[in-house]
Amino acid sequence: MAEEEHLNPPGGGRRSKELYDRARQLMPGGVNSPVRAFRSVGGTPVFIERGQGAHLWDADGNRYIDYLCSWGALILGHAHPEVVKAATEAVRKGSTFGAPTELEVTLAGMIVEALPSVEMARLVTSGTEAVMSAIRLARAATKRRKIVKFEGGYHGHSDSLLVRAGSGAAALGVPDSPGVTAGTASDTIVASYNDIESVEEAFAKHGEDIACLIVEPVAGNMGVVPPIRPDTVGAQGGPEGPREPGFLEELRRLTLENGSLLIFDEVITGFRVAYGGAQTLWGVTPDLTCLGKVIGGGFPLAAYGGRKELMELVAPSGPVYQAGTLAGAPPSVAAGIATLKLLQEPGLYDGLEQTSARLCEGLRQAAEKAGCPVCINRVGSMFTVFFTSEKVTDFATACASHAERYSAFFHGMLRRGVYFPPSRLESAFASSAHSEEDTERTLEAAEAAFSESAGWRTAGGLGAAPPTLP
Ligand SMILES: Cc1ncc(COP(=O)(O)O)c(C=O)c1O
Repeated sequence: MAEEEHLNPPGGGRRSKELYDRARQLMPGGVNSPVRAFRSVGGTPVFIERGQGAHLWDADGNRYIDYLCSWGALILGHAHPEVVKAATEAVRKGSTFGAPTELEVTLAGMIVEALPSVEMARLVTSGTEAVMSAIRLARAATKRRKIVKFEGGYHGHSDSLLVRAGSGAAALGVPDSPGVTAGTASDTIVASYNDIESVEEAFAKHGEDIACLIVEPVAGNMGVVPPIRPDTVGAQGGPEGPREPGFLEELRRLTLENGSLLIFDEVITGFRVAYGGAQTLWGVTPDLTCLGKVIGGGFPLAAYGGRKELMELVAPSGPVYQAGTLAGAPPSVAAGIATLKLLQEPGLYDGLEQTSARLCEGLRQAAEKAGCPVCINRVGSMFTVFFTSEKVTDFATACASHAERYSAFFHGMLRRGVYFPPSRLESAFASSAHSEEDTERTLEAAEAAFSESAGWRTAGGLGAAPPTLP
């Protein structure tokens, strides 16, 4: 980088630090969701004041190109004028009624039209709630107790899903968090993503007790890991390749054979990897689908849905109770409708694909130039830069990526005005607001940040921003 390069102060600056000090007195860890505290990359979290398009400004006035996009929710970038207009018009008419509205009918109709597996949907307020409710429904529909999830798969923080596995595949779950009882966790079986044998083992042992299997069809919470096909092991970037049964198809087969339901958690991938979600891209139809993030256009909104005969088990049509004071609140629903309408514009996903492909190819080249081994996994506009020379195909290979190098890269980018996820096991997201100029600026920053990352041990630390390593 040129010598006159402007570097943001580490941790954003004085105002962010003041706010963080005060926040820690008032909220656990100073935040309302743990990853925001930068614990896995070290340093002080940057406090954000506003966002516009692809950019964020922090409380000290520093600007960042944002690849967090509120953990994937903002596929159109920050404060898109149409989305703001729709939400503002809705809130002017009243923010919540606790009674049905036309907006909810419109959004439910759009979801049903978009997703092959969904004939009926229920709107809720968070992804956690959507998944928790879908699992309750699956248990009620099958009259079975156990569920299968994957190691490294995150499905929100409801008790039975805060379980990842001990050492062995197909192990009965142990809680990840105090407060989750061993009894609850023991109904959760944990298998290994992209390892169909671990799933077969789970069904061989517990098949008759398994209500459902839940999977992120493209894993996003161990960093991006696409579902592999046997003949394209390690292929990055989507469903190209000969049509042989792959991981998702095998999950469909096994769940059908065992009378269990298949739940796709498309909270990240829904309307992100394609308008119709990963299920459209991979051509596999689950029984139930969970949505969140994009469908709320950046407002609190999520949904679950599936075949009519299943969804009609939900109250008040059926006996499975689930409710919500703010479910389907008009500003969220209006923002969601505006977002989905904009996503229907011809070329929108092509544009996202081009931006993301160009960015990831540039990042790969920059890393190579800096002598920094990376594996970049990408599906559409979601991607992760893993600091490893190995291919990342599951949770174990994701975890084997270099934590300190990611931290060095993260801080190097942040100081150069580029905001990546503050954890190496997360997805980064591009939005339709990211321009070619943003890509160029990101790649310039990346060249320097990769060099710092490659030399993180030998260079004697990170100069102005030594992270507190986890
Ligand atoms: C795949 C997946 N499912 C569920 C959730 C939970 O959603 P929420 O944070 O809205 O509760 C998340 C959150 O990141 C997620 O990535």
